[in-house]
Amino acid sequence: MDDFKKNLIHSYKMEMIGTGLYKGLSMQSKTKNAYLSTRFQEFSKQEEMHGKLFQKCFKDLYGKNIKSGFFWKLTGRLAAFIMRPIPLRKKMKKLQIAEQDAVEKIEKLLNENIEPKFKKVLKVILPHEVLHASLYKEIFKQ
Ligand SMILES: [Fe+2]
Ligand SMILES: [Fe+2]
Repeated sequence: MDDFKKNLIHSYKMEMIGTGLYKGLSMQSKTKNAYLSTRFQEFSKQEEMHGKLFQKCFKDLYGKNIKSGFFWKLTGRLAAFIMRPIPLRKKMKKLQIAEQDAVEKIEKLLNENIEPKFKKVLKVILPHEVLHASLYKEIFKQ
């Protein structure tokens, strides 16, 4: 399998994991912090939409779907569950770092000569990832 195809599958996988992870976090914070719960829910929906865009991109280029979306979503939910004992601040710091990494990776790719359909998807998702990376600062005011 070529690197581009692998990259596309990996991107889809990370979005599906993110969908499940944010969904799990949203459910956990429902009674403790309604505002945060809503934000996580919104992020989960955005990650799912990103996944769908990568999926469409893959289908357009290779004529088939990437499988295992459901399994990866479940993996994200499980990750949220395992992360439960971690204090919120520490947990959100980890998420901020992961989202910031995603932002930097996307920005780097946008400056490269890449497949146009893939580039289009990256342009759509970048503002959301920037938003995801900024939640920690918004919540903890730093
Ligand atoms: Fe995303
Ligand atoms: Fe994200």
